[in-house]
Amino acid sequence: MADIQINAPSGKYSVIINDDIAAVFSGFLDKHFKGKKRYFVTDSNVLKDHSELINRLRADGESEQYCFEASENNKSLQSLSLILGDMVSKKINRDSILIAIGGGITGDIAGFAAAVFARGISYVHIPTTLLAMVDSSIGGKTGVNHGGIKNITGAFHQPFAVFVYPGFLSTLPTEEKLCGWGEIVKYSLITGGDLFEKVAGIAEPLKIDDRILSGEIIPECIRIKGGIVEKDEKEVSGIRKVLNLGHTFAHGIESLSGYQIKHGVAVLYGCRLAAGLSRKMNLMDAETYERIKTLIGKFSLPAKPEYLTFNSMRSVMISDKKNQDGQISFVLPCLPGEILPEITAPENYLKEIIENGNF
Ligand SMILES: NC(=O)c1ccc[n+]([C@@H]2O[C@H](COP(=O)([O-])OP(=O)(O)OC[C@H]3O[C@@H](n4cnc5c(N)ncnc54)[C@H](O)[C@@H]3O)[C@@H](O)[C@H]2O)c1
Repeated sequence: MADIQINAPSGKYSVIINDDIAAVFSGFLDKHFKGKKRYFVTDSNVLKDHSELINRLRADGESEQYCFEASENNKSLQSLSLILGDMVSKKINRDSILIAIGGGITGDIAGFAAAVFARGISYVHIPTTLLAMVDSSIGGKTGVNHGGIKNITGAFHQPFAVFVYPGFLSTLPTEEKLCGWGEIVKYSLITGGDLFEKVAGIAEPLKIDDRILSGEIIPECIRIKGGIVEKDEKEVSGIRKVLNLGHTFAHGIESLSGYQIKHGVAVLYGCRLAAGLSRKMNLMDAETYERIKTLIGKFSLPAKPEYLTFNSMRSVMISDKKNQDGQISFVLPCLPGEILPEITAPENYLKEIIENGNF
């Protein structure tokens, strides 16, 4: 269906979108990892819903499997240590390949295990959530949460390949699809143009057919992220920073909710707040702000929880790893397609947006 090349400076790889994943994956392993041990890290819900397919993916060659419950609390150094210990006990070695089957949590922690085990082994991600298909499986950011801070410990480690099988979306709960839409909305704001118009034109995003997602929206988001990663793989020149649109707010919201508010939903709140702050700072015109509000309004997000006060948000956002010189740094949209990557905001504006802004 599609084969998108990502030419990251530290590694080139294909993102293959295909309905016949078992055959394609078997051919891939045969070509690149014949006779090498395969180590599968699998999300427990995915294993339950797709055991037959996963057994087929494991059918060729010698393989081991580690299954875990994908939660933000399990995206931790303790869980990483369990995975690494299991890899040692199962005699995984430098030539082996790690295969992550799951969403962003599975990809982030398993990718990190691959980055550090034996100083780095190859890994493949087979994303099973919409969020991981459009975003987290691409770009090589791996890591875990620590000390109450999201993704504070990790490594850049590009995958050897990514296989997107749209059939996984059939069992994905609507709440998790909503999370994927958080990142899709982010991409539409980053690039503007056709993607923004397409996304803004969908009346009920959560009800659109998976075929439209896998045929049009998922490949488009992968191309956008891939293009950004190619130009600024390790987020040094600022180009990749635009991918953090809405994320300073989002990481604060996630942490303060004890991860009850999921990442993609927090990104939707975060994009709305970023647009509000941009409007308040006169960086965005009123019409654009209304269009963005209407778009995000289609997701009927619950009202802002009481505990998300200016003080609580400020104290968490100040620890975000993207900040410099003790100042909270925001990525703000001006127009769809026009993003400012490092903006500090007057505290009174921030307070007003967090406390009065209708999330
Ligand atoms: N590395 C990156 O560049 C990057 C980018 C964006 C987000 N992230 C990270 O991704 C994480 C969020 O990822 P996510 O939204 O994919 O969540 P997730 O991995 O937690 O999965 C969400 C839930 O859906 C279940 N699930 C997964 N696939 C399923 C399927 N096909 N059918 C039924 N249930 C399924 C999981 O068991 C889990 O309960 C966050 O930790 C975030 O920080 C990383």
